[in-house]
Amino acid sequence: MSKILVTGGVGYIGSWVTKLLCDSGHQVVVLDNLSHGYKENVDKRAKLIIGDIADPKKTKEALSGVDAVIHMAGLIVVPESVKDPVKYTKNNVLGTVSLLESMKEEGVKKIIFSSSACVYGTPDKLPIKEDAPLHPDNPYGATKAAIETFLQAYHANFGFDVIILRYFNPYGPGRLAPPITHAIPNFVKATLSKKHIPLYWKGEQIRDFIYIEDLAQAHIDVLKLTGFNVFNLGMEKGVKIKDVVQIIFNIVGYTVPIDDLGGRPGDVHANYASSEKLKEAVGWEARVSLREGLKRTINYYKNPK
Ligand SMILES: NC(=O)c1ccc[n+]([C@@H]2O[C@H](COP(=O)([O-])OP(=O)(O)OC[C@H]3O[C@@H](n4cnc5c(N)ncnc54)[C@H](O)[C@@H]3O)[C@@H](O)[C@H]2O)c1
Repeated sequence: MSKILVTGGVGYIGSWVTKLLCDSGHQVVVLDNLSHGYKENVDKRAKLIIGDIADPKKTKEALSGVDAVIHMAGLIVVPESVKDPVKYTKNNVLGTVSLLESMKEEGVKKIIFSSSACVYGTPDKLPIKEDAPLHPDNPYGATKAAIETFLQAYHANFGFDVIILRYFNPYGPGRLAPPITHAIPNFVKATLSKKHIPLYWKGEQIRDFIYIEDLAQAHIDVLKLTGFNVFNLGMEKGVKIKDVVQIIFNIVGYTVPIDDLGGRPGDVHANYASSEKLKEAVGWEARVSLREGLKRTINYYKNPK
């Protein structure tokens, strides 16, 4: 058992990771400024400290006795990052560097970081492997790539153990703070309330949807690693968005109309991961199929908690 600090642990993914850490017997401290989440999301077994990752007083308090940090705090809305890149850079990049400085001072030198497939932009090859070139095509992705570079520097200069997890498209039960930009919750909510589903590119885009609990479990699996590590975290299956909609219709037993929104500049046509490296390193695997995960998601949205 170890003591883990989860930054952003109030958020959608962080609250899942916190729950699984508590389930597996770890002691958990959550640090979150509540800018985009609901504190009721946090598992009662964890200690919640309300504060910002850029506030050294709060980070030092949160780091007391901690063995490793799972760093999930960050602003996440891509279109907002396009409108206000300075806000995203201050919060995500400078906030992280400030957290790293506190970690150095407190002697906590292991960090697991929530990165994103956004760092790859439009990939040259599919499936995407970790050695693919990074060319993020929006400021949010650029903040993730910048943070990865700082983590490399803290590994090289100060001996930090670093595990970077590049998430593909997480989905599943759990309360999301607005604006909800994720495809699956929007499709499920529209279907359940018998509204139209708006689709870009006629749903021909290909994505890699990974069930939230499988994604969260990877954070626990990598805790034992040392050194500098980068892993893709996906199901390794490219699925067309329109096929996801059909599975949802199939599960609920009816259809709703689809609105064709045409194309959208800046969208990546296809991305899906190779997660071979993670499987080999720690024996992680995705257990929940897309159909099963969608069933659980639909059940959640029928009666959200
Ligand atoms: N959800 C996705 O599709 C996805 C995909 C790839 C990567 N990620 C990354 O995973 C992490 C978690 O994402 P999520 O979907 O749970 O988002 P979320 O918005 O639900 O959670 C992020 C949490 O971070 C907190 N936060 C933001 N800035 C902070 C700061 N300066 N100090 C303290 N707390 C702060 C927010 O209050 C929120 O509770 C993020 O780093 C995100 O970039 C998410």
